[in-house]
Amino acid sequence: LTVTTAGTVVTGTPGQAAALPGWGRPKPAAATPAPGSPGLGDSYFPDYGNGGYDVGHYDIRLRYEPATDRLSGTTTILATATQDLSRFNLDFLLGVESVRVNGWPAAFAREGVHELAVTAPRPILKGQQLTVVVKYAGIPSETLVQGYTGWTRVADGALAVNEPESAWWWFPSNDHPKDKATWDVSVSVPTGVEVVSNGVQPRDPLPEAGNRTRWSWRSVKPGATYQAFLAIGQYDIVTDTAPNGQPVINAYSTTLGERGPAARASIERTAEVVDWESGLFGPYPFEAQGGVAGPIDGIGFALETQSRPVYGHSFWRRGANVSVVVHENAHQWFGDSVSVADWRNIWLNEGFASYAEWLWSEEQGEGTAQELFDFTYASYPADSEFWQVLPGDPGAAGIFDDAVYDRGAMALHQLRLAVGDEAFFRILPAWTAAHRYGNGTIAQFQALAERISGRDLDAVFTTWLFTAGRPEVATTARGAL
Ligand code: ARG
Ligand code: ZN
Repeated sequence: LTVTTAGTVVTGTPGQAAALPGWGRPKPAAATPAPGSPGLGDSYFPDYGNGGYDVGHYDIRLRYEPATDRLSGTTTILATATQDLSRFNLDFLLGVESVRVNGWPAAFAREGVHELAVTAPRPILKGQQLTVVVKYAGIPSETLVQGYTGWTRVADGALAVNEPESAWWWFPSNDHPKDKATWDVSVSVPTGVEVVSNGVQPRDPLPEAGNRTRWSWRSVKPGATYQAFLAIGQYDIVTDTAPNGQPVINAYSTTLGERGPAARASIERTAEVVDWESGLFGPYPFEAQGGVAGPIDGIGFALETQSRPVYGHSFWRRGANVSVVVHENAHQWFGDSVSVADWRNIWLNEGFASYAEWLWSEEQGEGTAQELFDFTYASYPADSEFWQVLPGDPGAAGIFDDAVYDRGAMALHQLRLAVGDEAFFRILPAWTAAHRYGNGTIAQFQALAERISGRDLDAVFTTWLFTAGRPEVATTARGAL
């Protein structure tokens, strides 16, 4: 693995302060501070996230130069120690200038690909509040991991939008969906450049010295680190109020040319889509709504960034695409509010967001979910590689495989057939209510579906999520479309 780190990396000297008394509190006699683990044991990405502390809030205060892609700033992390700690890790790639823990300068060192190891300047006790201040700078588009960067530099700015790795390139974090937090983001840019992020604007853009403007955004509901995003560049920002009274903030890159109207005709339906999804999935979990139409030289995918998905330019190539708006907003419940406890459970995100598209089609009278099931089933021949990927365990390299989306939606349709519509449409909001702002596993979902339906669903889950090969289906009108 090769990491090219732009900016200056200062490697601190390890732990000479470790023998100092612990924060003015008596240290329990038996306590042996130990290092926080460098990962959370995810079965696909074992070193993502870190153990030993739990983040409550990130305050991310940045300065960005579109002309050079230089990003600099300070992130303040509010956390609670979950064990006695001698040191702990953050996940981060840019060049670090300094780290302080509760005001004390802390030694730090880069370890592995994306780990920043911080030595506790004084012993940290379990339950203690930590304030970690990290100052840093770098050029994210040139900071490569295996030749890759999750930060997309474009002609007029940049996009910090990626899954599952995104924060590495712009703020130090505990980078796993199991550690959710709220966040504030503020970014200073040359005046005339727009900055869009999650949530709401706690203040109007503020003029700063040097013909600059500082934009501020706030997310008040707990979210996973990959949900945080930045879109910097030339945007038309359109605000409105949703039927549920929440602010709707949409942003359209001015670079889209003839794709611009299709982007607007799709994203402007966000409030309607969220209203309809709320009826199926339960109360909308976040404080604002919206969408960002990314630039013509930006990302080619879409991401369910919390409260405000970001859409790549390719979705508008052939006209409006409300399906992708339905998909990304369904993720606000399935993926964002209820997040994977382990990336192996990605079906809980992509299968559900994909099935939401089928439900929308059915609602619009453009083809029933059964017709879409039949069409999808028939479009993958029995000997296709497609049927060899298990949606319930697609492997680290397969979390966005077509099988997770298409066979994943087929699995939900089979569940619906097995339990009936009445139970199926009680299972969906029960799931989002039970794990709101938390995490879930496929096993937990199966247990909940069995409890609500009163049926043993092992055959459905095993056949559709965990068995290679094309399952037989009893009756089908496949090919009818
Ligand atoms: N969760 C996204 C979606 O299906 C997929 C993101 C794919 N990520 C990527 N880097 N291509 O809506
Ligand atoms: Zn998706």
